[in-house]
Amino acid sequence: MITNSVKNSAPSFHAAIIMDGNGRWAKERGHPRFWGHIRGAAVASKIIEEAVNLKLKAITLFSFSTENWSRPEIEIRVLFKLLGKFILKEKKRALDKKIKFRVIGDLTGLPLETVKIIREMEDLTKDFGGLKLTLAFGYGGRAEILSAVNLHIKNNPGQEMDLEKLEKNFFAPDLGDVDFLIRTGGDHRVSNFLLWQLAYAELFFLDTKWPEFAPSNLRNVYNQFLKRERRFGFIDATSELKKVSQLAVENKTILGTKNGK
Ligand code: IPE
Ligand code: IPE
Ligand code: MG
Repeated sequence: MITNSVKNSAPSFHAAIIMDGNGRWAKERGHPRFWGHIRGAAVASKIIEEAVNLKLKAITLFSFSTENWSRPEIEIRVLFKLLGKFILKEKKRALDKKIKFRVIGDLTGLPLETVKIIREMEDLTKDFGGLKLTLAFGYGGRAEILSAVNLHIKNNPGQEMDLEKLEKNFFAPDLGDVDFLIRTGGDHRVSNFLLWQLAYAELFFLDTKWPEFAPSNLRNVYNQFLKRERRFGFIDATSELKKVSQLAVENKTILGTKNGK
């Protein structure tokens, strides 16, 4: 039986978070939506700190989706500004804790100064072996899969695609599968986030809106995740065999009695 808690080596996991509910949180308090994004960015910092404490292998935060481009320009501009500020603020922690920072997504349309901040931080931390901190910005799961297919076709004309080759062409090829996904804000959907990598993720949907999400919430989900039994399509063959032999002893078969009744 495969459970998280009985693995021999020290387990280390990839968490992915859909940080949703900023706008509603702000509106409930009579503030404009961007208020929630400002608070949300501060929460993200605390959650990264907790991810380091929990010794997670990776944390991927959904910060701006390909679909979010349809939001009002003013909100989008605030999100770009916040992204740059956030990265500069996280620089000290990245250097201290050897955090490998990356952004996945299409950065076309972002202000050049923001792209510069992103690339500098990626470059500075590219050889670090600590937590992999990835922001999904301008990101869509479908776009990532499509881009991987097109890259493969371009570089290997006429060659068939396989699973390994596809993953090699992802935005961050070494990131790997997600172990557990958290979505805050009360909705139960994945909204085009890491569609491929979520194939066997354990899913946690919380009503808490992102600006209210606390490090203790992450720790709580993590502990629940550790108790979940992940079967990856397998069954416990030993106990199944026992049951089948018990039935044989009782002179029954799965398809009916000896006479076929
Ligand atoms: C998530 O919060 C942050 C982004 C999508 C950028 P929202 O802005 O979607 O907040 P709600 O869901 O409207 O409350
Ligand atoms: C998902 O939230 C994207 C991010 C958190 C960045 P949305 O608010 O955009 O998702 P929908 O529109 O409710 O599906
Ligand atoms: Mg939302």
